[in-house]
Formats: sequence, C-alpha cells, structure tokens
Amino acid sequence: MVCRLTSSKDHTPKDLPVHVAIIMDGNGRWAKERLLPRLEGHRQGAKSVRRAVEFCRSNGIKFLTLYAFSTENWERPEPEVSGLMKLLSQFIDSELEEIHRNDIRFKVIGQLQRLPKFVRQKIQTALDKTIKNKTMTLSVALSYGGRQEIISAALKIHKKLVLGDLKEEDVNGSVFSSLLDTGGMPDPDLLIRTGGELRISNFMLWQAAYAELYFTDLLWPSFDEDAFWKAIEAYRSRQRRFGKISEQILPPA
Ligand code: FPP
Repeated sequence: MVCRLTSSKDHTPKDLPVHVAIIMDGNGRWAKERLLPRLEGHRQGAKSVRRAVEFCRSNGIKFLTLYAFSTENWERPEPEVSGLMKLLSQFIDSELEEIHRNDIRFKVIGQLQRLPKFVRQKIQTALDKTIKNKTMTLSVALSYGGRQEIISAALKIHKKLVLGDLKEEDVNGSVFSSLLDTGGMPDPDLLIRTGGELRISNFMLWQAAYAELYFTDLLWPSFDEDAFWKAIEAYRSRQRRFGKISEQILPPA
C-alpha cells in the first residue's frame, strides 16, 4: 500500500497533471507468467483500463490518453490482432454507458481508416454519443504512430501553404499542434510506461516534448490505484522548468 500524503481531497488541481498519457505494456508477459494465452493478458489489460479511467475521473485528471494499438502492432500474429480488435469493440459495448454517464468524452487518435469496419462503427457511435461531455476526455490511440501523425500534420501545413490558407511566417508550434490528431488537447504532463521498458515507442513524439516520464516494472494488468498514486507522487516531486532555471519557477500558490 502506498503511503498517501494525498487523497484526491488533499489536491488542488495544480498538484495534479492535467493530462496523463500511458503506454500500457506488459499484457503478454502477465499472461505468460500465469501460463495463460496472450489474449487473456489483454483481457486483464482492459480491466486495468477501466480502473485507470475511474482513477482519473474520481481524482479530477481531465485528460487520459492510452496507447492501445500502435501502427507497428499490425505486424503481430493475426489471431492476436483480431482478438485485440474484438476486445476494443467489446470494451466500447460494455463501457460506453458508464463513460457517458460520467460525462467523459471518448476520443480516438491514429489511422482509423486501417481498423476493421465493425470497430470503426463502434468508435463512431462512442464519438457521437459523448461529443458534448466535458468532465474528462478519454483518448485511445489505435493504429497510432507518432511519426506518421507528424508527417500527416506536415502535409496538412504544406497543403494550406499551397492553397494560400496559411502564410509561412504564421507557421509555429501551436499551428502545428492544432493539426495533430490531438489538436485542441493540452500536451501530456505525465507519460507513464508500464512493463519495465525504458522507451517511448513512437508515442506522442511531438506532444511529449516536456512531459515528465515515469517508468514502472509493473505489468499493465497489475497497474492498480496504488501504482497510479505512486506515479502521481513522482510527478508531484519534480520541478518542471520548461528550459528555464529553478529561480524563475514560481512556487505553487
Ligand atoms: C502491450 O503489451 C499492449 C498492447 C499492444 C495492447 C493494449 C491493449 C489493452 C490494454 C486492452 C484493450 C484496450 C482498451 C483500450 C480496451 P504487450 O502485449 O506488448 O505485452 P508484452 O510486452 O508483455 O508482450
């Protein structure tokens, strides 16, 4: 049990990250350790997703972005890919009402056109139903790759320049950000990776420029509320300087 200096009530919103992004790694190893098929690891991973969403909702974290399927994951064996697609669709079936009741907006980032039609249809239903929700945004990265997203934003800029909709001198970081899949969302403050690997694997390459990174050996299905608090405590102990020096950073009011 993690010793909490903190419960949700002790926090001012300033203490907490506004946007948490998570690389949910370790489902396969979790299953292997228990001599279970990999898909069982993903099923348990989906339970952990539910727990993480509830953690953020109940503690006032406004944005949660989860890396569920990368552009590279298409190369996995077909039964695993189709099992994951079914799981995503089942997740929407089972969680959408609750997500909506909790005023959570559902979003997806990535190359959606590559997903099977039955998944795209479920996603569209979830996007439409929750479009006006304001309390929290849950974004799921599906068929997502940070490099591909950057190329696509660069092409959009190019098109705007060619059409005369944008002048070269007006191209800046915020224009670029607005053309990413995450346009309109704040950059992640805290990027968590479970599963013990120390890399960011093509996830939110642009957006994570100033994110605080937190790595844990815990496998994603074992990432529970206490583990999430530990990550938040680590985040709170850091001084975010954004390239400045400590003396320039005002202590929290
Ligand atoms: C990485 O672990 C995990 C994935 C590629 C899939 C993540 C999917 C889920 C958590 C469940 C479904 C998601 C939602 C949003 C309902 P890995 O398989 O690479 O694990 P390993 O490194 O131990 O093999």
